[in-house]
Amino acid sequence: MHEHIGGHRLGDVEFVAAFDVDSTKVGQDLSEAIHAGRTAAVRHVVVPHQGMTVQAGPLLDGLDGTLGTVVSPHAEVSGASVTSLAAAMAEARPDLVVCLLPTGSTEAVTAYARASAEAGAGFINATPEPVANSTELAALFTERGVVLLGDDLRSHLGATTLHTALIELFQSRGVEVKDNYQLNVGGNTDFLNLSDPARSRSKQLSKRKALANAGIDSREVAAGPNGFVKHLGDRKVGFLRIEGESIIGAPVSMEVRLEVEDSPNAAAVLANAVRVAHCAARQGMVGVIDPVCAFLFKSPKSGAKESTALHDFQAFVRKSGEHDARQAADGRE
Ligand SMILES: NC(=O)c1ccc[n+]([C@@H]2O[C@H](COP(=O)([O-])OP(=O)(O)OC[C@H]3O[C@@H](n4cnc5c(N)ncnc54)[C@H](O)[C@@H]3O)[C@@H](O)[C@H]2O)c1
Repeated sequence: MHEHIGGHRLGDVEFVAAFDVDSTKVGQDLSEAIHAGRTAAVRHVVVPHQGMTVQAGPLLDGLDGTLGTVVSPHAEVSGASVTSLAAAMAEARPDLVVCLLPTGSTEAVTAYARASAEAGAGFINATPEPVANSTELAALFTERGVVLLGDDLRSHLGATTLHTALIELFQSRGVEVKDNYQLNVGGNTDFLNLSDPARSRSKQLSKRKALANAGIDSREVAAGPNGFVKHLGDRKVGFLRIEGESIIGAPVSMEVRLEVEDSPNAAAVLANAVRVAHCAARQGMVGVIDPVCAFLFKSPKSGAKESTALHDFQAFVRKSGEHDARQAADGRE
C-alpha cells in the first residue's frame, strides 16, 4: 500500500535475531530457515545470507496438538528457558519483535511478549492469543514505554477483510444481514495446527470479533478455519455466503470464493505494521496503538468498521510522513 511510511522503505528493516524450536530451523542462517522443514511458502525471492542464525527458544506449549506430529524440537530447545530468551533478547536489542508463533500457544506467546517488553522492544502480535487484549500485558508495555500492536494479523486481502467489507456494503444500502458464514481451508502448517479444535479456539473467537466490529451479531456465525487440505500447500480458499433482506423483505444473497497465497498475504500487512510501529515509537507513543490496530488486526482492542479503520490507518501514515518531514527540517536548521 505504501512504498514509504514515515520515511522508511521495507528494505530499511534489519533482522537482528530470530527464534524457533524446529530442528530444521534452529542453527540455520535466517535466509535458509525460512524455507526449511514443513514450510509451504513459495520461494518468490532469494533472500541473501543474513549472517545470523536462528536461536532455540523455550518450547512451552508451542507444538502442542497436531503440529507436534510433524515438527520435532531441536536438541538445544531442552536448554532454552524463559530466562535464556530474555537474555538473548536483551543482547540482540531489537526495536521491534514480530511474533508468528502457532495459534493456541498462549504460554509461549506470553513469554515472548514479556521478554520483548522487558528488553524495551515494541511487539507485533500476529497470533490470535491475547496480548493487546490482555489488560496485564498491555499495561506492561505502557509501563516499559514501548509500543504494542495486535492481536491476530489481518491478511492483506483475506476472507475476514472481504467479509467485513461486504457486510458494510449490505448495510450501506440498507439491506439487513440475516445470515452469513465464512469457511476457510488451506494446506500449510498454520492450517494443520488449526485443524485441532483445542488450538483453533482463539482464531474462531478472533474472526467472530472482527465480524462483531463490522456491526453484526456474530455469536451464531460460522467463521473460521475449517479444515486442512494438504495439496493446497500455501494456498488458502475461503467460501463466503451472506443472506439479507432488502425493501419489503425481498431476499438478497451473495456467494464468493476467494483464493489467495497465504504467506505473502500476511507479509503485505506486516510490511505496514513494522513501519507504523516504528513511527509510533518515534513519536513517543506507548502501549497499544489504537489508530492503526483496527486496520491491521482481526482482533484489535478497539475495533472499527472497515472504512473507518482504513481512514484512521491512512491518516496515521500521512501524519507520520509529516512528522518525519518536520523532524528532518528541524535537524537541518
Ligand atoms: N496469512 C498468514 O500467514 C497469517 C495471517 C494472520 C495471522 N497469522 C498467524 O500467525 C501465526 C503464524 O502463522 P504461520 O503461518 O507463520 O505458522 P507456521 O506454522 O508457518 O510457523 C510457526 C512457527 O512457530 C514455530 N514455533 C512453535 N513453537 C515455538 C516456540 N515455542 N518458540 C519459537 N517458535 C516456535 C514453529 O516451529 C514454526 O516455525 C499463527 O498464529 C497464524 O494464525 C498468519
